[in-house]
Formats: sequence, C-alpha cells, structure tokens
Amino acid sequence: MSPDSVVGPLLGNVLQIPRFHFLLVLLLLLVARGLYKRYNSPLSTWPGPLLASCSRVWKFWVTYKGHSEHDYMDLHRKYGPIVRTGPNELSFASPEAAKDIFAVGKGVEKTDFYWVFPPAENPDVFTEIREWKHAQLKRFTVQPYSLASLQKMSSSIDAIEKELMDRLDGFANAGQRRCNLGDYLHYFAFDVLGEVAFSHRYGFVGTGTDVEGCIKYIDDVQFYDGLVGQIPWLHYLLRLNPLAIGKKMDNNGKSSTGRDDLLAQFIQGHLRAPDKFTEADVFSVAHGAIGAGSDSTASTMQSFFYLLLNSPSTYQALLSELDAATTSGTLSDPVSYLEAQALPYFQACLHESMRLRPAVGLNIYRKVPPEGMQIDGTFYPGGTEVAVNGWVLHRDKTVFGPDAEDYRPERWLESNAKEMHRHMYQFGGGSHLCLGRNLALLEMNKLLPRLLRRYHFGLVHPGRPLKHRTTFFVVQEGLEVYISLRT
Ligand code: HEM
Repeated sequence: MSPDSVVGPLLGNVLQIPRFHFLLVLLLLLVARGLYKRYNSPLSTWPGPLLASCSRVWKFWVTYKGHSEHDYMDLHRKYGPIVRTGPNELSFASPEAAKDIFAVGKGVEKTDFYWVFPPAENPDVFTEIREWKHAQLKRFTVQPYSLASLQKMSSSIDAIEKELMDRLDGFANAGQRRCNLGDYLHYFAFDVLGEVAFSHRYGFVGTGTDVEGCIKYIDDVQFYDGLVGQIPWLHYLLRLNPLAIGKKMDNNGKSSTGRDDLLAQFIQGHLRAPDKFTEADVFSVAHGAIGAGSDSTASTMQSFFYLLLNSPSTYQALLSELDAATTSGTLSDPVSYLEAQALPYFQACLHESMRLRPAVGLNIYRKVPPEGMQIDGTFYPGGTEVAVNGWVLHRDKTVFGPDAEDYRPERWLESNAKEMHRHMYQFGGGSHLCLGRNLALLEMNKLLPRLLRRYHFGLVHPGRPLKHRTTFFVVQEGLEVYISLRT
C-alpha cells in the first residue's frame, strides 16, 4: 500500500469536516472551553449550577426570564451562602460578606456590567466604573441631593400630591370606585422627578397616562442594559440597537423658573469647576436621575401598598396610628417629612416592605482589587467578580429572625431594630450608596401617610401576586384597588 493511498482519503476526510461537522466541532470547542473555565479556576471548589460555572450564558438566561431575584433566592437555598454564578463570579448571601464587599477604601470597584448603561460616552454617578472619577462626580452631586436641599422643594412635591389626590378623588366618587393605584404611584414618582430635577411638570398624574411612552421606554432600555450587562461585550455588537440610544431631552440646560432645582445646582457646580465637572457631566448626571429615580421609588411604594393591603391587621394598626396622630395635631396636611418620621408604625411598615421587596432585583456586582481581598474570612484572588442581592440578604435569619420570610412590621419596633438597620441594602452600600435616597424617602414619607389617611383602599385581587419584570429594578404592575374617601 503506497503512502498516497492512505494519506489521500484521510486528507479528504479531514477536509470534509468543516463542511459536514462544523457545528459539531464548534459545539465540542464550546464544551471544552466551558469545562476549562469551570475547572481551571480558583473558584472551581464553590458549588453552583454546572452551566453557570462554564459560561455567562446562564446569567443571561436568568436575567432574560425577568424574575432573577427569585432565581437567586432559590439558588442560595439550594447551594448555600456562596454560589458560583459565573465562570469568574460568586454570589454571596451572608451579611458579613456584604459588609466586606461594600467596605469603603478596600479598592473594590464596579464591574463592566455598569458600562452598558447609558450614557456610555460620558458615564454618570451610577455608571462610572473608575473610582477616582466617581468620587469627583460625587463631590458635585452630594449637596444637591442632600435632605436639607431637597426639603426646599417640598412645596413642589405637595403640589403633585394635590394633583394626585384630585385624580384619586375622581375615582373615589365615580360609580366603580376602582383604579390602578400602582400606575398612579409610578406617574407620581415621575412627575416629582421632573419638578425636582428640571422644574418641569411632565403631566403623568394630570393626564393619567404614560406621557409619550417614557415609562415604557425607560423600562425597555433598562431591560436591555440589565440583560446585556451580564455579557458586556455583547454591547459592542448591539450598540446600534435603537433601545440603547438615548432619547433627546427637550431641556436646554437652564432652569426656566429660576428655582434651585437639581439641574440648576449641577450647572452651578459646573461653573465653579468646569474642568472637573464638565457640561457633559451635567447632562449625564441629570439624565441618570430620571433612569434611577422613577421605577425605583414607584416599585417601593407599590410593594408597600401590596404588602399592607394583603395584611388587614397591619393596615388597621397603621390607620389607628395615623388617626391618633391627626387627632393630637401632630400630623398636618400636607404631611411633612419630620412628622412622618415620628410615626413608628408607619416607619416599621415602610422598612418591612423595603426589606422584603427591595426595588433593585438584579444582583449588584463588584470586582475584587488586583491584590485580592478577604471576604467573610476567606481570601479571593484579584479580578474575581462578587455579587449580592438585597432580596437574598434581607432574608437572613440570623439578622432578621426565624420568621425573616414573613411580613411582620412589628420586628422594627423590637430590640434588634438597630442591628437590622445595619444590614439593609435596599439603597446599596459603601461608596455607591444610592445618591437619590433622600429624595425617595422624602416623597414616600410625605405621600404614603397622606393617602392612607384620606382614602380607604381594598385590593381588587387580594392575594394575587403583582406581575413583574425585573429590568434592573423590579418593575411591577397590577396593583388595582377599590378606593373610597374615609371622611
Ligand atoms: C426607593 C427608591 C430607590 C431605591 C430603592 C434605590 C436603590 C438604589 C441602589 C440599590 C443603588 C446601588 C446600585 C449599585 O450599587 O449597583 C442605587 C444607586 C443610585 N441611585 Fe438609587 N434608589 C432609589 C431612588 C433613587 C432616586 C430617586 C435617585 C435620583 C433621583 C437615585 C439615584 C441613584 C444614583 C445616582 C445611584 C448611583 C450612586 C453611586 O454609584 O454612587 N436613586 N440606588
């Protein structure tokens, strides 16, 4: 047998492979790559789903399904406090781990996940990954977002509350006495942002509609960001996706009313130090407020009502507190932030809803600094991506008690409350603690007691879970109520 008679057919067969078995070869290569990532990694000893340790496709799929907070809770129930959720990623459930991950000054940074969120060309406080630049941006934004500064805008919030109540009065006096409270809470949060940030009334509450589809647009953009952020390089391929291109704003960058709204204060910051806080920074930080501040506050208020109205005894106890405060003259109309702070049971209900249903449903990601670090007593190598989720952390039984899964606001009136407060992450943590939390707390503290005092609410579908899709925030719908005036 000549060598040619052997090599010839063999070579021919090899050349057939790309033609007939290309997909098979590709598949084998992917499996080999996945197994390499799974086993050739310092994280290989941690438990987790097989696919998650081989590829980020697993995270992508979980996010795509739209209920990732439930997936992560199930995952930790199944695998324990540390789960491998990506080839280079661990998810942590313990409060000690969260403390280390959010500790300031340890060199922990945000991951590329945030890079996908707009505006990519000029990151804002939320999307900026470089810690030095983030600190610089914060220097110019902390003051405008301070409670003292925001309280000066209380009268604008009062005016939107009044507009909301005019609408709700209309429903309470109409034949069916029924409305979609969830939608109106969303409209309220958006209109407050418009007033506080730009002195501009968008008219969501007034028209009772999602003006120009803005809410839907933001949700779609955030779904894209949250999903593609799981595999950030995909953004290069999808950059021209129409959802990823920011809508132009009609604001010309000046406060037409002369009020010290957020935008005006950002512009003043820019004028003080134009090289450190540029015009583009002003735009991106103002733009960021809209993305970060409407779904989050709306979701929190919807969860507050959903849990409260499904618990008649809690609802009754809260009404008793509000009525007693009104009778004693300590709850005026409109309600002030400080008055609401002095309502212990109301505060307990608010904290309990932020504990059980925090508005951010995706995991929050950070990257271990190059030199590595200790998390909850174990060393992790530099570059490891580490993640936590408020829905998981807030159910820790060692902190929140054996009934941590249950809705029980009374826990916030017990001796352990201080410790529980230290382990709440509804606003994130560390140097990236939510910048807008004072605004969210201001509007919720003012609005919620005022609505509860004026109206009686009953769920149209008691016990039925709210529909939701987790983009970055848990975007909910279906909070329909029967409504009537209490007085
Ligand atoms: C109840 C309402 C809100 C909740 C639950 C909430 C939650 C959060 C969370 C969990 C983070 C940390 C995210 C991370 O580290 O990946 C965050 C950051 C942020 N939030 Fe909020 N937020 C709320 C309202 C607002 C409002 C009203 C604004 C602005 C108008 C806002 C602006 C921001 C900004 C700019 C950041 C980035 C902070 C930084 O990285 O330094 N948020 N928020």
